[in-house]
Amino acid sequence: MKRICEVLLTHKQIEKRVKELARQISKDCNNGSPLLVGVLKGSLMFLADLVRNLGSDAELDFVSVSSYGGATVSSGKPLLRQDVSADCEGRDIFIVEDIVDSGKTIEFLTGLFLGKGAKSVKTIALLSKSSRRKVSVTVDYVGFEIADKFVVGYGMDFDEKYRGLPDICVLSEG
Ligand code: IMP
Ligand code: MG
Repeated sequence: MKRICEVLLTHKQIEKRVKELARQISKDCNNGSPLLVGVLKGSLMFLADLVRNLGSDAELDFVSVSSYGGATVSSGKPLLRQDVSADCEGRDIFIVEDIVDSGKTIEFLTGLFLGKGAKSVKTIALLSKSSRRKVSVTVDYVGFEIADKFVVGYGMDFDEKYRGLPDICVLSEG
């Protein structure tokens, strides 16, 4: 049985870091109007907090990609379940992810947006587990580097549960 065993990052720590990331991203955007593409559903809270700290020019869209189902280990084959509705031609795209693990989702989505004619594609991830990378990807903005543990809360789930937790917590066998 899976149980929450410890708080890894409090909501306060997350809030502070999201503000710092937003400041950095705004600076790098140079008054352009970026298209932020949230990866459903895990990035929901992060994207909402991020966009409230960015200028009013940011546009939002969403994709849904699945590779997990009811497991804590990825099946490794990202599947596009829902595409963006925005025209990506010539746009600066920022993929907004909850967590980069193997890197396969980001690799897949970067290819998708370049194929749609995006001018640039960057990645913003709240969390990164670099030790688990299977493919080499660049994560342009990382909130926190974390160890190889399965986490839930602040939008992230295990089998669709725990998304509403305000803190990010480690889930383990208990
Ligand atoms: P990747 O394709 O292996 O990089 O996996 C990325 C996706 O796996 C993320 O968007 C998350 O949805 C999910 N994921 C990876 N690690 C965790 C975790 O610790 N908790 C919840 N979801 C995770
Ligand atoms: Mg995700």
